[in-house]
Amino acid sequence: MNFTLDLTNAANAAITKTGGSMISNGVLIIRETGSNFSALSATCTHQGCQVGYYAASNQIVCPCHGGIYDMSGNVVSGPPPSALTAYTATLSGNILTVKSK
Ligand code: FES
Repeated sequence: MNFTLDLTNAANAAITKTGGSMISNGVLIIRETGSNFSALSATCTHQGCQVGYYAASNQIVCPCHGGIYDMSGNVVSGPPPSALTAYTATLSGNILTVKSK
C-alpha cells in the first residue's frame, strides 16, 4: 500500500502537531516528534476492531477487548495474536508518504 497525505489539507490537521494521530486508508498515523511518524495498520489482529493511539501512555489500544500494542506495533498485552503491520511514513515538505515496508 502506498499513499500520500498533504498536511496543508485541513482534513489532515490532526497530524500537523506532535502527539496527533489520524486514520487514513486503514493506517493509523501518529506524529511522534518533529517530523517522525509512526504508521501502523489500524486493524486489531485479534478480531479486527479499529485501534487508536493513546498519547497518555504512548501506546496503541484496541477498545474491543483491551489489546495493547507498542509504538512499533508489537503486542504488549491482551488477546491480539500478532503485531500490527508497520508502514514507513516519510515527510517531505508538507507531503507525508506512507508505504509498505
Ligand atoms: Fe482488538 Fe479483540 S479485537 S483486542
